[in-house]
Amino acid sequence: MGKYIINGGKTISGKILLSGAKNSALPIIAASLLTNDVTVLNNCPKISDTDTAFKILKQLGTDIDADGNTIIINSSSADKVQIPENLVKKMRSSIIFMGALISRFGEGVLFYPGGCELGNRPIDIHLNAFKKLGAKINENGNKIEISCPKIIGTVIELPFPSVGATENIILASVFAKGKTIIKNAAKEPEICDLQLYLKKAGAKITGAGTDTITIEGTDKLGFAEHTIMPDRMEAGTYLMASAATGGELYIENISSYIIKPVTDILSQAGCNLKINNNSIYLKTTKHLSSIPVISTAPHPGFPTDMQPQLTTLLTQAQGTSIIKEEVFDKRIKHIPELIKMGADIDIKDNRTFIVKGPKKLIGTEVYSHDLRAGAALIIAGLLAEGRTIVNGSIHIQRGYENIETMLTKLGADIKFSEN
Ligand code: EPZ
Repeated sequence: MGKYIINGGKTISGKILLSGAKNSALPIIAASLLTNDVTVLNNCPKISDTDTAFKILKQLGTDIDADGNTIIINSSSADKVQIPENLVKKMRSSIIFMGALISRFGEGVLFYPGGCELGNRPIDIHLNAFKKLGAKINENGNKIEISCPKIIGTVIELPFPSVGATENIILASVFAKGKTIIKNAAKEPEICDLQLYLKKAGAKITGAGTDTITIEGTDKLGFAEHTIMPDRMEAGTYLMASAATGGELYIENISSYIIKPVTDILSQAGCNLKINNNSIYLKTTKHLSSIPVISTAPHPGFPTDMQPQLTTLLTQAQGTSIIKEEVFDKRIKHIPELIKMGADIDIKDNRTFIVKGPKKLIGTEVYSHDLRAGAALIIAGLLAEGRTIVNGSIHIQRGYENIETMLTKLGADIKFSEN
């Protein structure tokens, strides 16, 4: 199991160019199964989750060529409907292939997905939606067999604006008979990117980015070339790293609208930000201020995927901050590790923590239990006194392309070690 070795105390400053968004690339890679033609994806992040998604496509009979961050996918010869358990278990978002499989083949066999330990991660919203579209689902242990010879469009009201369920219903409805309307749909920008790709391939979809998405069934999809949108979570992570270490950071090629929930909080914490349509410049002031209460929420609320990184930042802010995790029921694995480094954090319950600062963090050995917890611990290592070893790099590499190279360019003293 690899680790990152960080000698803290350096400011993180400079300019970065963002990778493609993991949470846009993954549903689009699954969606490429829907066409019998070729899909060309540009700016595709080279991370372990996209690697797993490509392995799943190859397992289904798709041909894939890669040239750096450009991936050429030809799904014309795809003919398998089962995804092996070992691949499904590698990431939660493998569930997104279910919608693609029933659209393409009318059937699919998957297993309950693995993924980040963020508490209970059921897929009931996905399965109930597929049943409404006419699917028969047989659960045998953790194997899920789904069959749906003809998908009939219908109105589906989501009990929670689930990102994955919204994407899965879109994929399942592309060739449906009639119209599918998703109500209380998730509004994340990555869903807009999925819609953009599918419309280029010939799908009839409107409403992504709003809480009502309409999919008009069509006969087939064709060729599409698409450039994956920039990763707003990568942007937010580097902004938090710079803010936590008293640096200044310039990011271009990102729409300021999609990262506004994060830049609003950084401004509230006392950072100076210059924001243009497609670029952000952050300069940290001497003292960060606490945030009295901050709750995570579905977009356009403060993103849960930035909660761990913000927790680290607020350990350095003057005053008391109350953080409420309203999306996942147990996204707290980073907190005991931060407390090991000296952070003053009181866990009220699995969704509420009270951070008091500023508190000096001292480098020590910590463990990254999931992707964003790992990012939070790397930021803690960057600002801490002395050496921090962040174990569990496998989780961090699921979502950050070359994080140690990027941070070194920005002034960090960080090394990756395989053992
Ligand atoms: C997506 O996960 C993202 N992953 C997550 O990013 C992100 O944290 C999450 O959306 C919320 O924004 C990808 O896009 C690949 P949800 P997803 O369905 O689709 C509950 C990262 O760090 N729920 O919106 O799994 C669920 O338990 C990852 O990049 C049900 O109860 O998230 C959670 O509490 C982590 N039943 C809430 O909804 C269901 O059937 C939000 O989940 C589905 C979800």
